[in-house]
Amino acid sequence: MEAMDFPENFTWGVAAAAYQIEGAATEDGKGPSVWDEFCKVPGKVLDGHSGEIACDHYHRYPSDVALMKELGVRHYRLSVSWPRVIPAGTGSVNRAGLDFYDRLVDSLLEAGITPWVTLFHWDYPLELFRRGGWLERASVGWFADYVKVVVERLSDRVSHWITLNEPQCFLGFGHATGTNAPGLRLSHAECLRAGHHVLLAHGRAVQILREHAKSPPIIGWAPVGVVSVPEDPENAADIEAARRSMASVSGGDASSMGMPPNLWSNTWWGDPVVFGSYPEDGIRAAGDAMPRIEAGDMAIISQPVDFYGANIYSGTRYRASASGEPVRLPHPPHTPLSAFKWPVVPESLRWGPRFLHERYQLPVIVTENGVSLADWISLDGRVHDPLRIDFLHRYLTQLGLAIGDGADVRGYFHWSILDNFEWAEGYKQRFGLVHVDYETQRRTPKDSAFWLREVMTTHRLPS
Ligand code: FCB
Repeated sequence: MEAMDFPENFTWGVAAAAYQIEGAATEDGKGPSVWDEFCKVPGKVLDGHSGEIACDHYHRYPSDVALMKELGVRHYRLSVSWPRVIPAGTGSVNRAGLDFYDRLVDSLLEAGITPWVTLFHWDYPLELFRRGGWLERASVGWFADYVKVVVERLSDRVSHWITLNEPQCFLGFGHATGTNAPGLRLSHAECLRAGHHVLLAHGRAVQILREHAKSPPIIGWAPVGVVSVPEDPENAADIEAARRSMASVSGGDASSMGMPPNLWSNTWWGDPVVFGSYPEDGIRAAGDAMPRIEAGDMAIISQPVDFYGANIYSGTRYRASASGEPVRLPHPPHTPLSAFKWPVVPESLRWGPRFLHERYQLPVIVTENGVSLADWISLDGRVHDPLRIDFLHRYLTQLGLAIGDGADVRGYFHWSILDNFEWAEGYKQRFGLVHVDYETQRRTPKDSAFWLREVMTTHRLPS
């Protein structure tokens, strides 16, 4: 393989999220989230694991930040825990919780690392869930009030913002299949109603950032990138079939995951945010389940954003039928699988960003990409993860091709900096560039961390 150069101003970063690494779940006045509660329900999370301690990042953030610096990290995507900042979700603010993020931001900046702050990464305040959660239209205001508190405190130093992480997952798995917190199995209509409120919450967050941020904000969001790739990348009809499937609400095949139509798609979420309208095929698929849209809603939802984020791990192959229709293909038998059994499809990092950029005409940032592997500490004391290096090399090569195709891709965040609490899979899935021993909390950078350091600091993929 040839060495490949990335643009000098390309943003290289790493990512994590509050509930997955912080721990200190009941400390310093933090309120409970739906995830704290869900972890207590027998059988919901692998072996009864929880985020109670996780990577203890709440206490260890100074050394974690120092480690990031050592590993060449210049951009870090973190999330703020809503119930840490406002324990009941609305009302009184927990100073100690807010102070934590204040200190974290300061230490990142001192280490020369730019914080990218996600305002909601799934840890919804339990109290608000009990008051109806996202099903209530009032949830939009609850979120807006919380966002204002965070923005007032951090925006003098933070300028990069991500409103929400993956509505497809926290609604699809949290409210439709019930496999994630809060574990609901709602009807199609209820899911879409909750989804409409989530989109409004996104729009209100953008408005609040624009109105109140003390330094000019750069705002995006981080939905799942539901990616289709052409079976033959040289075949124009296959490319068009993949493009059409990515732009349809059924392209992601929600039903195979036990979700109602629309939820597992790009356009049900992206079209309202960028174009201010739900997609026609989604409206047809929703039928009677279509949410009620009040006057002015779509204008709130479609507040201009600065970039389109996408979390991309895998993709599905499509070819064109004789009449040009997209035909979904099974993964070929030789497709490698991660420890999570997710198919390794490097081409997803070319076609995903490219098609999203073509459709939405916004700069694209890959807000998450990575792989879980069965990593362990070898007898020599190091963690050898050649498969992650190979994964990165293949995926980043494809990302470079997307840029070569003319897609405006501005950045890449690796999921994750640390092994962490992988939701319903507990600590079984290791996504980190840094291995975490959960008994001792010892951190051991994996070989891939050093490999990626070289790429991030030279902006070049080796041959
Ligand atoms: C994404 C989530 C992130 C992490 C990765 C593996 O769906 O946003 O928190 O769990 O998957």
